[in-house]
Amino acid sequence: MDQFSEILDGLADSSLRGREFREECMQRLDTLPTYDWSGVYRLEGQALFLDAYVGAQTDHTRILVGRGVCGTAVAENENQVIEDVSMLDNYLTCSLATKAEIVVLIKSGETILGQIDIDSHQAGAFNQDDEQFLEKMSAMMAERWMGSPKP
Ligand code: SME
Repeated sequence: MDQFSEILDGLADSSLRGREFREECMQRLDTLPTYDWSGVYRLEGQALFLDAYVGAQTDHTRILVGRGVCGTAVAENENQVIEDVSMLDNYLTCSLATKAEIVVLIKSGETILGQIDIDSHQAGAFNQDDEQFLEKMSAMMAERWMGSPKP
C-alpha cells in the first residue's frame, strides 16, 4: 500500500473528531518526507486562523482573505499548488527554507470551513497526487469538523 493510502486508512479507523482529529491528521502528514510544515487554518468571517499544525512556529496565525497563498485560495475558491514560492509577489513567508506550498480547501457543500496548508523545502514537491490525497483528507475533516459534545 502506498503512503497516502496508509495514512487515509489509519485516519478512517480513528474515532477522533474536531481539533483532536485535525491534530492527528497533521501528525500523520508530518511523516511524509517532503511535508516540512503541515497545518490547518479555520475560516472565520474574513480571516483564516491557525488551528492544528506540526512544524516551526509561524507569525501567520491570522491571515486575511485575499492575502498570501492561503487567503488567495479562499478568495478564488480554488486549491493552490505552488511549485516555487519565490515566483509569487503575494507570498507570506513562514520559513526562508520553504520552496513549495500546497493549499487544499476544506468544504462542507459550498461552504469553506478552512484549509490544509503544507510547505516543503523542496521546489516542485507537490503535484495532483498530493492534491487528490489532501482532498480526501479534507473531506474527512469536514465530516468531523465539530468535536464531540461534552458529556
Ligand atoms: N505561506 C502562506 C502563509 C502561511 S505559512 O506558509 C505557514 C501564505 O502565503 O499564505
